[in-house]
Amino acid sequence: MAILVTGGAGYIGSVAVEHLCKQGERVVILDSLVYGHRQAVDSSIPFYEGDIGDKTIIEKIVGEHEIEACMHFSAFTSVGDSVKNPNIYYENNVVKTLKLLDVLVGGNVKRFVFSSTAAVFGEPQRIPIDETHPQNPNSPYGWSKLMVEQILHSYDTAYNLKFVALRYFNACGASDSHGEDHDPETHLIPLILFAAQGKRDSIAIFGDDYPTPDGTAIRDYIHIADLSQAHLLALKHLRNGGASEFVNLGNGGGYSVREVIAAAKKITGKEIETIIAPRRAGDPSRLVADAKKAREVLGWNPQFPEIEKIIESAWKWHSLNPNGYE
Ligand code: UFG
Repeated sequence: MAILVTGGAGYIGSVAVEHLCKQGERVVILDSLVYGHRQAVDSSIPFYEGDIGDKTIIEKIVGEHEIEACMHFSAFTSVGDSVKNPNIYYENNVVKTLKLLDVLVGGNVKRFVFSSTAAVFGEPQRIPIDETHPQNPNSPYGWSKLMVEQILHSYDTAYNLKFVALRYFNACGASDSHGEDHDPETHLIPLILFAAQGKRDSIAIFGDDYPTPDGTAIRDYIHIADLSQAHLLALKHLRNGGASEFVNLGNGGGYSVREVIAAAKKITGKEIETIIAPRRAGDPSRLVADAKKAREVLGWNPQFPEIEKIIESAWKWHSLNPNGYE
């Protein structure tokens, strides 16, 4: 039996694949390589280059491998871009996921671990955000993920598809062999590190007039190794006959943009110039998780909650791979 990992050549998917393989799991990867990197995948792992919306390739994978479960990482994930280009977010994240699900259900694959997001909540009404918090996304990206959450719930009711939807807060950091390499890069920590490497002149702070102590937006940064651990635990939960669940994943703390920049200065020992820029459309002021349910239901136990450790791991990877996977 094998696990189908969509987006297994991407940032978070590649780390999950690394950990699944270390656990002795059989893995099959489907990745379009639009954003993923072939070099992020070990050549010994069965790899299909293709689109999650292409039913033919998914039928082929299900036909050629005994797929027991799917971890679905493939998605477009930029909050700001989704505000400008909602059509491609709904098409890629919702319509294509529906096609993927239909082939899986048709092929009797009944376990699904879904990469959802804190963006399904929108501007928080209370902090920290637990699973009962109202959902009112403020970006098409958040809506696209919320729509898939609803589809999964309906598929469980109708087709007995058991799923865990993991709502990541801000994924970051690196393992020894896998790190963050997006093109274009829009995420705060890699951009700060590019500034530290001299690859860009400065880092823009998107808004310093938020209702937070230092005026900059607060996020709950979570190390990808801890995210990956949650995926393995979600799979275990489903294998043990666990019910479908929506689970928030974060450290329950939260750091402002200024605090992240200060930590990066300390870790890298470099001066990092900042400039104040307008707020970015679709950005909530503060996103901090209540991850009690992840601990209780999945037995999740994050190892790298401190921002310094997260940045240290990312800095190590970027220093060893100054051009990313190229
Ligand atoms: N930011 C800056 N300057 C930059 C880049 C980012 O100030 O150059 C700020 C953003 O405005 C935000 C924070 O840094 O306040 C973090 O921004 P990221 O782009 O790193 O991450 P996001 O919070 O926008 O989004 C990430 C994922 C989403 C996910 C979200 C959930 O990319 O997929 O976390 O919290 F939905």
